[in-house]
Amino acid sequence: MDRYLVFGHPVRHSKSPFIHTLFARQTQQALEYGLAEPAADGFAEALQTFFAEGGKGCNVTVPFKEQAFALVDRLSPRAKRAGAVNTIKLTDDGVLLGDNTDGAGLVADLKAHGVTLTGGRILLLGAGGAARGCLAPLLAERPSELVIANRTQAKAGQLASEFQDLGPVRAQGYEALQGPFDLIINSTSASLQGDLPPLAPTLIHVDIAIYDMMYGAADTPFILWAKQQGARQTMDGLGMLVEQAAEAFTVWRGIRPGTKQVLRELKRNLG
Ligand code: ATR
Repeated sequence: MDRYLVFGHPVRHSKSPFIHTLFARQTQQALEYGLAEPAADGFAEALQTFFAEGGKGCNVTVPFKEQAFALVDRLSPRAKRAGAVNTIKLTDDGVLLGDNTDGAGLVADLKAHGVTLTGGRILLLGAGGAARGCLAPLLAERPSELVIANRTQAKAGQLASEFQDLGPVRAQGYEALQGPFDLIINSTSASLQGDLPPLAPTLIHVDIAIYDMMYGAADTPFILWAKQQGARQTMDGLGMLVEQAAEAFTVWRGIRPGTKQVLRELKRNLG
């Protein structure tokens, strides 16, 4: 049977095996999907062994996405832009192709929620790997403007200048932000410390869409805060997780699985 897995550290709680097993059942594809947790310095060897032993493809998650970027034979244009690889496919001619489906997953989930990106004004919070990964797919939707705000302003400036050629993107400090925005995307890891990005409450209005790339059984601190300021449409990153997986599955198997039912089952398991 064709073998796939996800590399990460830690990876025990990854939902990828659950998601891909449901995709495989739904599309009647014969495959198995497991987990691998190499030591911090053991990823390159583990990756090589996996493919030498007949593995067909893998996902890569924290902290190995940048290493994967450096290790593959060939990069997709979106992986090149993201500077990170979350999906690897062994092609028929034996080439390890590195791709990145995270940004496509975010855009697919936003669209599934009915959020209009084209012509909209988007505020992206954070300038780390998660922000970098979604910039090209967001700009491809042709927003009227995409503003990046980050605690360390220089990093936001750097990102904005790197993606200048793809659309109207600029960096701004948190205090200088001028609304109204149609959509705010939180890509920061502030929630992990139970913290919030330092955003003025006046930027939240009833018609705004709020997206947090984090997720959990309960509302993330950012979503809770946005609701308290009056936001009505809030989304967490569980949908992005399922959509990026569907995109990876499509890269590997050439068939696109449906995501609605899988997302429902995942939500039931979280709660
Ligand atoms: P990831 O790959 O998940 O993006 P990362 O590259 O470590 O992780 O980036 C984390 C992002 O969250 C950064 O933009 C970081 O801001 P700095 O560049 O100023 O460090 C942001 N972040 C983390 N904790 C934060 C906090 N408490 N408040 C605001 N931003 C925070």
